[in-house]
Amino acid sequence: MIDDRALHQLERKIDSWRTRVKDDDERKTYDEVFDKQTLLLLAKLISDGVFATVDYPVSTGKEGNVFHATARNGGALALKIYRVSNATFRNIANYIIGDSRFRNVRRSHKEIIYAWAQKEYKNLLGMAAAGARVPKAIEQRNNVLAMSYLGDETRPAPLLREVRLDDPAAGFEDLVETMMAIRKGGLVHGDLSEYNVLVWDGHLWVIDCGQAVPLAHGHAEEWFLRDCTNVARYFRRLGVDVDPKGLADRVRGG
Ligand SMILES: Nc1ncnc2c1ncn2[C@@H]1O[C@H](COP(=O)(O)OP(=O)(O)OP(=O)(O)O)[C@@H](O)[C@H]1O
Ligand SMILES: [Mg+2]
Repeated sequence: MIDDRALHQLERKIDSWRTRVKDDDERKTYDEVFDKQTLLLLAKLISDGVFATVDYPVSTGKEGNVFHATARNGGALALKIYRVSNATFRNIANYIIGDSRFRNVRRSHKEIIYAWAQKEYKNLLGMAAAGARVPKAIEQRNNVLAMSYLGDETRPAPLLREVRLDDPAAGFEDLVETMMAIRKGGLVHGDLSEYNVLVWDGHLWVIDCGQAVPLAHGHAEEWFLRDCTNVARYFRRLGVDVDPKGLADRVRGG
């Protein structure tokens, strides 16, 4: 059952965001993200009680948009809505193909996007179960993923690259713990850098886990070393004594 009132409310809200933006590209993004099926799905998720309201956009990214939403109990959620119509499809397919967990996925465009959202959901669960600091995955349906929101009423948690850490060495150690946990969970993040780490509550949190693959994936080792290189480069610039190989060995050693 679709909640008509929720659907109307949602449409009004999206219209207000659309009219507020000056930039044609950004307006187009809204039209793409909120296609008819996605709107109906959001209304369904509201009537199913997954969340009560979609509140405001947090970020417009390559693959999709992230919105702040509120659960029935008042808790803050992040909704990541993968755009079904866009051009990053090839890139995504590259990560799905070769991941044995998605061997049986029919590879139509829409199915790949849904598989991708499901992959991020499963990756978040797997990483969290192994002790990684990642948002708590709450629900995934088709191209919509609901997870816990990092931030408060005034702002979303800043990216690592936007923050001046008081103690870079301690921040680095915090991230290494999560890198070890991700590896213990049998996964490689694959897009780890200061752009996909949020700083919140005195800790570093890893986000954007859609492209993470199992250690058995053909590119796992290559992507693991790339992650280590990015992290080592960033913290080295902050004066932490670390190099990619040393970091990789440490994370492997668990
Ligand atoms: N759980 C969350 N809590 C708060 N903010 C979040 C959360 N998840 C994502 N964000 C915000 O949304 C942005 C985009 O999320 P994410 O990196 O997962 O998507 P993306 O499609 O890869 O976007 P981008 O191309 O910008 O990297 C993040 O940089 C972050 O600012
Ligand atoms: Mg990102």
